[in-house]
Amino acid sequence: MSDEERLPPPALLDLPIGEVMFTQRAIRRFKPDPISDQHLKLILDAASKAPNGGNLQLARFLVIRDPDRIRTFGELYREAWWAKRREGPGWTSIEDIPKSEKTFLSAARLAEEMGRVPVVVLAFAVARADLGHSVLPAVQNLLLAARALGIGSTLTTLHDDVLPRVFEMFEIPKSAQLYGCIPLGYPRGSFGTTPRRPTSETTYWNAWNRPPPWRYAIAIPRRFRVPGENEQAAVGLARNSAGFIRGLQIPTRPAGLNDEVRRATLRGLEEDWMLDDGRATPAPRIAPERDPMNE
Ligand SMILES: Cc1cc2nc3c(=O)[nH]c(=O)nc-3n(C[C@H](O)[C@H](O)[C@H](O)COP(=O)(O)O)c2cc1C
Repeated sequence: MSDEERLPPPALLDLPIGEVMFTQRAIRRFKPDPISDQHLKLILDAASKAPNGGNLQLARFLVIRDPDRIRTFGELYREAWWAKRREGPGWTSIEDIPKSEKTFLSAARLAEEMGRVPVVVLAFAVARADLGHSVLPAVQNLLLAARALGIGSTLTTLHDDVLPRVFEMFEIPKSAQLYGCIPLGYPRGSFGTTPRRPTSETTYWNAWNRPPPWRYAIAIPRRFRVPGENEQAAVGLARNSAGFIRGLQIPTRPAGLNDEVRRATLRGLEEDWMLDDGRATPAPRIAPERDPMNE
């Protein structure tokens, strides 16, 4: 174990962790600007620090930055992406993808662009056993470190059709298992924030289907929460207009503030909003047995 490294936390990764996590998202359009070796090392150092089963450290990363190799790999990636779409929804060209399928349209464009990205990282385990649990935390660290450096990324996968050719091209031993294919590059456009279901819907509390406490809170726009009358008025208005849907306290009259509060409640706690957690006037609680989520 003498060759193991205990690296000090790098000063370059100084973006607040909250900003990094809440703006790390799938970037699929990249500038051609190169990524320095120093930044790539930092990203891989961050990956190496992730939890892994038994600390056996079976994850391996293949960094591809030779433009010719990336171009050839890009052709295989495009073939793999379309092979999956043919097997799935049956799409064979970009015209087949419905306009509403924004993620797939964007992913299709990445399939075209993969051959021109500055760097591709392939993530493996050096064993054929099912070791995704020990590789994907490292991949997530890699994505977060890249974001902290202003570098965009997307976790993607390949298709069995192309794997033998990818393995041969990069001299990857058959004993390795591929878990991710990650393009890296400086984004064209900004990182933005990620749209996700509210945690009031995806979190259970103490038992399955039991909602977390914030399910019952009312979201109040922060700008109404200046101490004094405005805040009181906003809280009162929100409470008075609140209806109860599935145990969720959602104002039902879609007008003015009500509408804003309703949207915020549905979205959950976001930067511009604070939860009225009912400390001043307890928010009504719905007994779990009356919560239709449990019926
Ligand atoms: C297991 C897995 C496979 C994915 N495969 C692809 C893919 O093949 N192509 C792609 O462009 N994005 C892929 N993604 C990225 C997802 O589309 C992305 O994480 C999701 O749409 C959320 O995007 P956002 O963080 O920008 O909101 C994959 C993500 C995961 C976790």
